[in-house]
Amino acid sequence: MKPLKDSKRTLLKPHLLSVEELSIPEIDILLNKANFYADANRQKGKIEKTLKGSTVITLFFETSTRTKTSFELAAKRLGADSIGINASTSAIKKGETLIDTAMTLNAMHADILIVRHPDSGAVKLLSEKVNCAVINAGDGTHEHPTQALLDALTIKRNKKNIKGLNIAICGDVLHSRVARSNILLLSKLGARIRIIAPPTLIPKGIENLGVEIFNNMEKGLINCDIVMMLRLQTERMKGLYVPSTREYFKFYGLDHKKLKNAKKDALIMHPGPMNRGIEIDSSLADNLDRSVIHQQVEIGVAVRMACLEMLTVGIDK
Ligand code: CP
Repeated sequence: MKPLKDSKRTLLKPHLLSVEELSIPEIDILLNKANFYADANRQKGKIEKTLKGSTVITLFFETSTRTKTSFELAAKRLGADSIGINASTSAIKKGETLIDTAMTLNAMHADILIVRHPDSGAVKLLSEKVNCAVINAGDGTHEHPTQALLDALTIKRNKKNIKGLNIAICGDVLHSRVARSNILLLSKLGARIRIIAPPTLIPKGIENLGVEIFNNMEKGLINCDIVMMLRLQTERMKGLYVPSTREYFKFYGLDHKKLKNAKKDALIMHPGPMNRGIEIDSSLADNLDRSVIHQQVEIGVAVRMACLEMLTVGIDK
């Protein structure tokens, strides 16, 4: 691993636990580097192995396709050794605690631990017990910082500027760490955020984050530049939050009729995985003139490459 650079000239952070801890200049530096990697990944050009000699471990206590794979790919593209640990096939099944598991991996001289956990705050707690860098890959309903960063870069690449955009975040906001991270990040970058959801799926106090709240999707979408749909997270629901998925789609699913209320060039986003026919009409999800869902996945690798650099060798300002 290369020696750490002078942190005065380089963006170098100990951990990435939330978007709250990133300043606007830091976000700009991170997204600029990620933008460079997004182009480099497309051109399949030679990428400098800045993480050669580093060990990156993904430790996931919840399922994942996009985040886990893209972190492992990002680490490999930068020359790191990357290893994935699945909680369901590890010693966690024998009763080992989260902290003991993390300390064990720390003792193997991991440089970065990338952790997803069902409990809000669990990843921060773990970061206080190890001496390697930790990335939050999603903790409970709290935050999913790299998802928000990749969403921001996807918007920037398509709309040039985030400042002044009307962004609607629609659906199961109550259970969504993606919504929370995006509200914090996109507001910080100057967007106006609207939340569109049934009252049962809006967290108490969310208005304190400066968002506008709509229970009517047609009204909420008027003049929107970005329509970000969220998955109905039935696995986190204890009780009945919507009468039925059919009813939900009728009032809160994105279909052609409701989308007409947004701007003509409004883009459709979804962090995935999608429930087709529940929160989004299948043909809209696949309409490449409007939907940037696959771009989000592609840019996710580039953003995670920049994040890995930010925690190891640093990003030159
Ligand atoms: N968006 C997201 O976090 O997807 P995965 O659950 O597949 O990682």
